[in-house]
Amino acid sequence: MERTHLTIILLSAFLVSSLLPHSLNAATGRCNPSDYEVLLKIKQALGNPYHLASWVPNTDCCDWYALQCNDTTNRVVELTIFSGQISGQIPSEVGDLPYLDNLTFRKLSNITGPIPQSITKLKRLRFLRLSWLNLTGPVPDFISELSNLIFLELNFNKFTGPIPSSFSSFTKLGALRLDRNQLSGSIPESFGHFKGIRTRFIPI
Ligand SMILES: *[C@@H]1O[C@H](CO)[C@@H](O)[C@H](O)[C@H]1NC(C)=O
Ligand SMILES: *[C@@H]1O[C@H](CO)[C@@H](O)[C@H](O)[C@H]1NC(C)=O
Ligand SMILES: *[C@@H]1O[C@H](CO)[C@@H](O)[C@H](O)[C@H]1NC(C)=O
Ligand SMILES: *[C@@H]1O[C@H](CO)[C@@H](O)[C@H](O)[C@H]1NC(C)=O
Repeated sequence: MERTHLTIILLSAFLVSSLLPHSLNAATGRCNPSDYEVLLKIKQALGNPYHLASWVPNTDCCDWYALQCNDTTNRVVELTIFSGQISGQIPSEVGDLPYLDNLTFRKLSNITGPIPQSITKLKRLRFLRLSWLNLTGPVPDFISELSNLIFLELNFNKFTGPIPSSFSSFTKLGALRLDRNQLSGSIPESFGHFKGIRTRFIPI
């Protein structure tokens, strides 16, 4: 009897220590470990700006400024970097936050360069706003791989060249903003049969 009790107590202690989320020991709380690593890489790639001062290592990333976690899964579902003193390019690591629903970089005049191709990994993305930045190069064709997009805003940048005709393949898009760039060429013929039914299109 005694022995059985002791065994049960030891077994329970073992189970409790092995089943409790590691978060109780590691200070990162609810934060998903993979999202945590990626966010710290993003912060570093942006030059550790003051705007992301709340992104402190060994704290719960779901409490950090400029992002949101899903309440159930604790995965990062929204990243909104808006109006700060931040210089550099959009870090390619944003493509490694696989549960993102909303991605916004807005009103950051020192964000330059191209849109990283890695964003095509964000298969769940529905809202993409990269506006009032100083992005350059062509409007990338690969954005059309984000087939769940409802809202695409790329206005107020320095994009050049044509509007990709592949953009007509979006089936869920409700709004497309490309105004205030330096686009050239004509509106793609494919836009005559846009798959998204309700698309409001504000060209140049
Ligand atoms: C959070 O994730 C769950 C499970 O994937 C999903 O059902 C729910 O809609 C999400 N909540 C929000 C607010 O997106
Ligand atoms: C993304 O933005 C849309 C529109 O602003 C909002 O309805 C949706 O709840 C947001 N999703 C998340 C995960 O914050
Ligand atoms: C942009 O960069 C310039 C030059 O480094 C700097 O003077 C300016 O304050 C920066 N602006 C913002 C909004 O970060
Ligand atoms: C782009 O940068 C220039 C300064 O180099 C600035 O005057 C302009 O406002 C920026 N564009 C946007 C959309 O922020």
